[in-house]
Amino acid sequence: MKNKKKVLITGVAGFLGSHLVDSLLKKNLYVIGIDNFIGGYEDNVSKNIEFHNIDCCDLKKLNSIMHGVEVVYHCAATAHEGLSVFSPCEITKNNFQASVSVFSSSINNGIKRIIFCSSMARYGNQKIPFHENQNTEPVDPYGISKVAAEKVLINLCDLNNIEWVIAVPHNIIGPRQKYDDPFRNVVSIMINRMLLGKPPIIFGDGKQKRCFSYIDDCIFCLERMLDSPEVNKQIINIGPDEEFVSINEIAKICSNITGSNLEPIYRKDRPKEVKEATCSADKARKLLNYKTTTSLFKGIEETFKYIKKRGAKEFDYSKLNLEIKNSLTPEVWLKKEL
Ligand SMILES: NC(=O)c1ccc[n+]([C@@H]2O[C@H](COP(=O)([O-])OP(=O)(O)OC[C@H]3O[C@@H](n4cnc5c(N)ncnc54)[C@H](O)[C@@H]3O)[C@@H](O)[C@H]2O)c1
Repeated sequence: MKNKKKVLITGVAGFLGSHLVDSLLKKNLYVIGIDNFIGGYEDNVSKNIEFHNIDCCDLKKLNSIMHGVEVVYHCAATAHEGLSVFSPCEITKNNFQASVSVFSSSINNGIKRIIFCSSMARYGNQKIPFHENQNTEPVDPYGISKVAAEKVLINLCDLNNIEWVIAVPHNIIGPRQKYDDPFRNVVSIMINRMLLGKPPIIFGDGKQKRCFSYIDDCIFCLERMLDSPEVNKQIINIGPDEEFVSINEIAKICSNITGSNLEPIYRKDRPKEVKEATCSADKARKLLNYKTTTSLFKGIEETFKYIKKRGAKEFDYSKLNLEIKNSLTPEVWLKKEL
């Protein structure tokens, strides 16, 4: 155990963090994990890691566990883009302040490389497909907090001669994703509602378009970022640029897979929602040998199997509060309609 390379992952009760743990354990690394359970599921935390129930904003506690760590993957966040215009304090705290604390503690403890999970929200409403060399133009507090964290990361790492990589995943689906969170994860929410015998709810006309990546394809890329010299100081989109689909089409696929024949209910657009968002995967193909191995249909099917096995659940509004309640706030959330 003593000679193993030590890696620290934040957000290990979460969707991405928990899968990353499994893949790095397979590489025979010593994994330290952090989570404060504002998201994720307790049983996503692997029994085979050194786990700490710590808030990433707690610099003192972070410093107490960082000793000897070589690489940090910062995956913890409240990944709630749509909610961020209504709960900006909580979202900014967990995405910006938490990130800066993790970076500060990492640098203080002589870490070699920090890998930061940013988001496609960094690009905002620009011409698609988004390329890494485009300017960042985030349109909501979620995207703004991710871009601000990226800037602090680059600033501090370059000053201290520490390697950094910025991963830009987008719309990941698969087992272990939270499906009873009313504020995010459209595919999981739709499947959960259908299993509860309820129709899907769509914000706006459903013509918004996205690409979805299956978790394994995303983890493959994150794993490669561990020590590859080519990716040092690189920002890399992670996810497919194929199967660009509308939310209406997603609802149809979910209903085919679940066997639900209920028509979607349409509600007012969510403010600031980007209409068409997709990223180029060219850089990931070149630097990480990225390939899409799981089709959208198969990815949704695997997500369905996970939710079905675990059991459909009523939505949990207790973890995050709506900070701004006004005429712009979706009624679905105000009335807890999900
Ligand atoms: N899932 C996606 O589609 C997607 C897309 C783009 C980017 N990302 C990014 O990938 C990362 C992981 O996302 P995910 O989907 O796994 O989310 P997730 O919510 O499943 O996991 C995040 C975990 O971080 C923890 N966390 C949040 N704030 C914390 C804090 N202050 N201290 C300690 N732990 C804290 C939560 O409890 C949760 O378990 C995030 O940075 C997210 O912004 C995700």
